[in-house]
Amino acid sequence: MAVKDYIDTTDFTKEQLLAMAQLGLELKAAIAAGYYPPLLANKTLGMIFEQSSTRTRVSFETAMTQLGGHAQYLAPGQIQLGGHETMEDTARVLSRLVDILMARVERHATVVNLAKHATIPVLNGMSDYNHPTQELGDLITMMEHLPAGKKLEDCKVVFVGDATQVCVSLMFITTKMGMDFVHFGPKGFQVKEDVLAIARANCEVSGGSVTVTEDADLAMAGADFVYTDVWYGLYEAELSYDQRMAIFFPKYQVNEALLAKAQPHVKFMHCLPASRGEEVTDQVLDGPASIAFDEAGNRLTAMRALLVYFLRPTVPDAAAVAAAKASLDARLAGLPAL
Ligand code: CP
Repeated sequence: MAVKDYIDTTDFTKEQLLAMAQLGLELKAAIAAGYYPPLLANKTLGMIFEQSSTRTRVSFETAMTQLGGHAQYLAPGQIQLGGHETMEDTARVLSRLVDILMARVERHATVVNLAKHATIPVLNGMSDYNHPTQELGDLITMMEHLPAGKKLEDCKVVFVGDATQVCVSLMFITTKMGMDFVHFGPKGFQVKEDVLAIARANCEVSGGSVTVTEDADLAMAGADFVYTDVWYGLYEAELSYDQRMAIFFPKYQVNEALLAKAQPHVKFMHCLPASRGEEVTDQVLDGPASIAFDEAGNRLTAMRALLVYFLRPTVPDAAAVAAAKASLDARLAGLPAL
């Protein structure tokens, strides 16, 4: 069954996600060669943001510009959503005014509801459950930085720290690809059983594996990619700085000593923004193993791919265009004098 929206990578097969990634790489190569394919000419993206963003906002807007389209930033307080208008009505209205929507939302149900009531594609720009546009960019980044002689399926990916929505999304896409995924995090802040069940189901199809551990040596042994995210993710009760540090520091900080437990060719990834000195040291984030800034650049690679994949631009029917032009020309010629 066709899926109109990109809400969760779980809705897509490995082949579909790889097709998105390959499309992104093809568009990236075309643009690097100086060809900006005007695939989204006259198309408009509506961007709903309930939270602040640098990478997601800028990459979506740049992708639309590069492909000949336009993006509108729809921030809280600037549109009626959340004030005088429901999400359902907003979805119906925006479906008539723009061609595609993205939404960064506080609660996952909001983007699901938006997609349900919109007749145009809706892309999830991050919720409290997952971050699937980040993960397509991360998949592309791993494809670009595969260890010599290895395929995706041969690689081990370790997420260190708190089970944020980025951790969960990384687990979803890596297990879908047949990779070995490890969450190295403290009890109480590890991936939960509901999402682990999805990852295990992925592994049954793909041949990958999923492990959750507090053992640093077990986690890092043989790792090809090590990934982390901030420590103030998704707590039911807000934790103070001191409480967070007591839970995660120093054991779950990605520093040179922890990274040395992995393979010599290991690459370090971070969705950014980073809290330098907390979940990662300057030496690692700025060091030779870090591909975190290439990863940020691939948010743009992913957004181009998603916009083209879900909009499926087609060449307009030449006869219909000619007929419309002739009709409009006649109407203009017949307008009364000013
Ligand atoms: N990684 C990420 O989503 O960054 P932003 O919050 O800046 O969009």
